Amino acid sequence: MTGSGPEPDSHRTSDRGFPFAAAAGVAGGAGSGQRSSAGTTLDDYTDRYAQRMRGMTASEIRALFSVTSRPEVVSLAGGAPFVSALPLDAVGEMLGSLGGPAHGATTLQYSGGQGDLALRERICEVMALSGIDASTGASPDDVVVTIGGQQALDLVSRVFLDPGDVVLAEGPSYVGALGVFQAAQADVVHVPMDDDGIIPEALTEALATVARAGKRAKFLYTVPAYHNPAGVTLSEPRREQILDIAERAGLLVVEDDPYGLLGFSGEPLPALRSRRRDGVLYVSTFSKTFAPGLRVGWVLAPHAVREKLVIASEAQILCPSMFAQSAIATYFASMPWREQIKTFREIYRERRDALLASLTDLMPAGTRWTRPEGGFYVWLTLPEGLHSKEMLPRAIAARVAYVPGTGFFADGSGGSHMRLSYCFPTPERIREGVRRLATVVEEEMKMRAVFGTAAPGAAPGVSWTPAGTFGAAAAHTPSPGQE
Ligand SMILES: Cc1ncc(COP(=O)(O)O)c(C=O)c1O
Repeated sequence: MTGSGPEPDSHRTSDRGFPFAAAAGVAGGAGSGQRSSAGTTLDDYTDRYAQRMRGMTASEIRALFSVTSRPEVVSLAGGAPFVSALPLDAVGEMLGSLGGPAHGATTLQYSGGQGDLALRERICEVMALSGIDASTGASPDDVVVTIGGQQALDLVSRVFLDPGDVVLAEGPSYVGALGVFQAAQADVVHVPMDDDGIIPEALTEALATVARAGKRAKFLYTVPAYHNPAGVTLSEPRREQILDIAERAGLLVVEDDPYGLLGFSGEPLPALRSRRRDGVLYVSTFSKTFAPGLRVGWVLAPHAVREKLVIASEAQILCPSMFAQSAIATYFASMPWREQIKTFREIYRERRDALLASLTDLMPAGTRWTRPEGGFYVWLTLPEGLHSKEMLPRAIAARVAYVPGTGFFADGSGGSHMRLSYCFPTPERIREGVRRLATVVEEEMKMRAVFGTAAPGAAPGVSWTPAGTFGAAAAHTPSPGQE
């Protein structure tokens, strides 16, 4: 994490507190905390929070991440795109003009809840690269513009999930999606993956497990292309298999595709949505192909669902930012965005190569990792007995940061894994980061050899998976009526 501000995917929830309470010196009754000039250490509001806040805890590792923005730390943790590669002079000029006398009266105004039509038309052009076009039933009328991919996921959850509902999701899964499902009080059942993405037999098994518990999964959440955090891509034969299984089970598929245009071979993969008009909700964002700071994403949904999404979005935000929408629409109408995506792909490919080569050269035997063909991430499996979350303070002390695998499973399992990002640091910094990490892992292995391999605090439910999958099996089996 080298930029300023929080990473979108390095933690799950906000810990915004109520500083005014401490400042006002609210009298402490039972349950009130110690006070200091800096505020309280306990929470006076515990009995007033909504139930949905119960499982939403601040990340224990956030304190450590606050040091990863220091220049001496090599961060392989954050998922921040390398926006410095944008033509910032031209972009700056365009943004200035959009806010000025020629356009300001429109761009600084409210807009419609569904999003601006000019942008929705551009979105259809972008989706056509992934095979989603008019021939597969895509139209600007069925697009809802959102505040990044994150609000898109939140809207889908608001529209479909009641407390206690089941969501199937890859194991591991994007941490921001897990946060959304947790806020919706849904149960996540993880479906194991391997190097070819989600395992069809495991999906069938997960559906059966959910059915045995007397429940029905509301949807499958999946990132088929260049997965965050696993770095793998759903193989061509499996795409049809997964869609068939979902269709037979009446299971909606939520396809989250922020990285689909960032494949290193150049040709975007046809999205799942390009194969099915119905039964697939397609979510994407301009955060990785243009700029996350503008916070613009979208959902393409069947018409009836689109209507519900708009109603839910209006209740939540009234409308997306007209300024940000205009900026994106103007960028895609007037600047060489296809060439820019090519530039991003080349930068990321070089960094991916640097990470993979460094891992091969430097990591001790017994460490395994995935080989992404696009996107930002490598998923690394530690030698047996090591725990990525336990090891993190020592890694930070050695001036290298990563995200422990525990953040990517709803039940906090996944401790034998970590996510490494190559999107932001230069190849030289990546190599230096891996050199530091390898030393930490080697020292950890020596320590385990002396003190035993039972990793302290090893997360329950993780299968140490030499057999090719890299996650927990169905990590969380819901029981009937469980909330
Ligand atoms: C898989 C996935 N979905 C959604 C998002 C959120 O995207 P945005 O920054 O547009 O909200 C991210 C961001 O890292 C992501 O990796």
